[in-house]
Amino acid sequence: MQAFLSSSIPATSYSRSSLFLPQPPHQAPVKLVFPSSAPQRGSGAVAADAAARTRRTASEAAGRSGRCVAASSSSSSPATAAVATTEVPGVMKAWVYDAYGDASVLKLDEAAAVPALADDQVLVKVVAGALNPVDAKRRAGKFQATDSPLPTVPGYDMAGVVVKVGSQVKNLKEGDEVYGMISEKPLDGPKQSGSLAEYTAVEEKLLALKPKVLDFAQAASLPLAVQTANGGLDRAGLSAGKSVLVLGGAGGVGSLAIQLAKHVYGASKVAATASTKKIELLKSLGVDVAIDYTKDSFEELTDKYDVVLDAVGQGDKAVKVVKEGGSVVVLTGAVSPPGFRFVVTSNGAVLEKLNPYLESGKVKPLIDPEGPFAFSQVVEAFSYLETGRATGKVVISPIP
Ligand SMILES: NC(=O)c1ccc[n+]([C@@H]2O[C@H](COP(=O)([O-])OP(=O)(O)OC[C@H]3O[C@@H](n4cnc5c(N)ncnc54)[C@H](OP(=O)(O)O)[C@@H]3O)[C@@H](O)[C@H]2O)c1
Repeated sequence: MQAFLSSSIPATSYSRSSLFLPQPPHQAPVKLVFPSSAPQRGSGAVAADAAARTRRTASEAAGRSGRCVAASSSSSSPATAAVATTEVPGVMKAWVYDAYGDASVLKLDEAAAVPALADDQVLVKVVAGALNPVDAKRRAGKFQATDSPLPTVPGYDMAGVVVKVGSQVKNLKEGDEVYGMISEKPLDGPKQSGSLAEYTAVEEKLLALKPKVLDFAQAASLPLAVQTANGGLDRAGLSAGKSVLVLGGAGGVGSLAIQLAKHVYGASKVAATASTKKIELLKSLGVDVAIDYTKDSFEELTDKYDVVLDAVGQGDKAVKVVKEGGSVVVLTGAVSPPGFRFVVTSNGAVLEKLNPYLESGKVKPLIDPEGPFAFSQVVEAFSYLETGRATGKVVISPIP
């Protein structure tokens, strides 16, 4: 494992945590039950229309005081009061698109509106973000029926520092280092003002305190993927002593699903698929059986599993390798019986319950060695993600 980590993962991301994390405490496997500085690479352009719209809103919102609070870009109700006093600018840098399409629709807006703060929200100065395939699918217009209105600041994942709290916020305070997935339901009314920006407004209930052993880039890599992995395994009924096959083990979700299955759920056997050059990575993540899909068809092997988690879109084949009475949880693509679809919901309590495993180093974030990408390189980061070949997470850090 160390050999792979030291040779393949840059010191800015994975290797640092793996080398210096404290030794994990002795913990019996537990089944969680939940309510169900990078190199610069270039520069972006300014989206004149979107920028003009958001700039206008922001300057109206900021009023004479110059303090930002009122631009309407959250899906939540507008703020009536904010109890904290931190000064934040009225406008911010943000990546924006005002038409659906490929990565070229993304423009860097230097004067986007800082999102409004609702009573149950905190305003976070974003330090790092991460991309997920849903960001690309949403930008391509695949979820238009339930999307927020354009223009959109994309991004679900982030880690950052609380700079302002709404009047109903109970636990978080200014200065807290937090991480989370900023929209509760990623496909259903996601926030218009996402995490690929200097500031984002997020409900307190969607956030958790950042594990102290993780830097912001590492923490930002986790929320959507780890909650998907955990939710999928939980919904599939994985528990100690059961076996699981993860399809797409080297991706953002799969790399975390392997670790959760092994170290949180206590699976007796963890198998996963990837292409040849990622087989060593699968082993370093803890799999018992690494299947090279370029050489073997997993559905033709004799092994059967209690749980199959499909992060590739192979639901038709996945159902062929599940044991009688087992579960097939499908994250993408067609669902064949007895498989079922799982769609993640953001919940800070889930992150809080996983934090001990992150603090102990039992579960580690995996940042793609092509990154972290600079904030100016969001277009390139999207293009890379959309190759479908990312290893772990595509991270954007630092966000200025
Ligand atoms: N339903 C939900 O709530 C939910 C939540 C999160 C994600 N998802 C979906 O789940 C899918 C995976 O998400 P992700 O974030 O993990 O994506 P990702 O990080 O972009 O996945 C990339 C990985 O997929 C692997 N892969 C591609 N084809 C493969 C194949 N035939 N067999 C095995 N591995 C293969 C690649 O490995 P190789 O280079 O070795 O091929 C690569 O490492 C996406 O479609 C995403 O939209 C759904």
